[in-house]
Amino acid sequence: MKITLSVIKADIGSIGGHIRPSDRLIDSVDSSVRHAGGGFLLDHYVGTTGDDIAILMTHTYGVGAKAVHELAWNAFVEGTRVAQEQGLYGAGQDLLKTSFSGNVRGMGPAVAEIEFEERANEPFLLFAADKTDPGAYDLPLYLAFADPMNTPGLLLAPTMSAGFRFTIMDVNCTEGDRVIELDAPEELYDIAALLRDPERYVIESVRSRRTSEQAVAASTSRLHNIAGKYTGKDDPVMLVRVQKDFPATGEVLAPFSIGHFVAGAMRGSHQMPLMPVKLSSGISWFDGPPIVSCAAFCVHEGKLTEPVDVFDHPFWDAVRENVAAKAIDMRRQGFFGAAMLPMAELEYTGIVEKLAVLDRRFRLRRAAEAREPVLVHG
Ligand code: F6R
Ligand code: MG
Ligand code: MG
Repeated sequence: MKITLSVIKADIGSIGGHIRPSDRLIDSVDSSVRHAGGGFLLDHYVGTTGDDIAILMTHTYGVGAKAVHELAWNAFVEGTRVAQEQGLYGAGQDLLKTSFSGNVRGMGPAVAEIEFEERANEPFLLFAADKTDPGAYDLPLYLAFADPMNTPGLLLAPTMSAGFRFTIMDVNCTEGDRVIELDAPEELYDIAALLRDPERYVIESVRSRRTSEQAVAASTSRLHNIAGKYTGKDDPVMLVRVQKDFPATGEVLAPFSIGHFVAGAMRGSHQMPLMPVKLSSGISWFDGPPIVSCAAFCVHEGKLTEPVDVFDHPFWDAVRENVAAKAIDMRRQGFFGAAMLPMAELEYTGIVEKLAVLDRRFRLRRAAEAREPVLVHG
């Protein structure tokens, strides 16, 4: 059976700052989807990560289906009413447009979708990250799909030895989707040259080169490129089909033990390590660290199993401790150098205005001043 997995997520309000949506808000989104999707969704799941709500839907309408996008949009609009009633912080924050126009892409919410013919057994992973941006998945995907140091399947599994095709988007381009397709392993250095800059180059999808089957769909929207100003971080979602022709679940999860530095945390303006957390985790210290959750599912004829919380395992407690230590260490240097994002990526405009004022106060020292003789006494 050919099905589509669509995950659409948004921040439409949370308790105590950008921490976690209220139970009433989550219930409202869930019941809107249940109510409106009754006729045509095969199944759905609603989960939270930090202050974001993700709606996972299974259906047969393909990628970018208007009815599916509209259903999610309406659930978020309805939820925003609840958020306003409860006085939640940032109510409706990610709904950047006032009316739905056919597809939530470019309207604020993050989207990732894959259409495929179901395998006899179909395991997949739903990732959701908060307080960071789409480039956060670049390193884990590179390691899982292109590096045999991480993924022994690239050496051991004949189904994977042809490698994978990466579609990478230049998210700085606002005229349209500027993408490139590169093949691993032959073009590994080209892939690496782009992914070195995760604020600009974001992996959108990965396909098996043997079968052309799609393994990965990740959201790529950059809110500040849509809104032209700070509206919160982009908090990406990602779907990854695993096993057989694709990396095993553990090969996809393994890179998240690095706690690699990503853009985000406080005011969306810092470099902080990404912490793998349990489902429904909130945000705390320094509006971070940036977090990522992962729900593992199997799907059959569009029906989802219950989610398994893969980062809820003793192994990840050690990783979390290490990430917390890295985060505190980086934070000790405050705003200096590598701790904060480069100027073009800062999410608040206050500093740009401040620098413009200071710029007018700079002066070029006159040559005569510079040559003034040094007085020697004695
Ligand atoms: C939100 C985030 C937070 C906020 C901070 C200030 O995604 O990263 O760090 O930027 O809590 O929030 P505002 O600017 O809404 O007062
Ligand atoms: Mg928020
Ligand atoms: Mg968020």
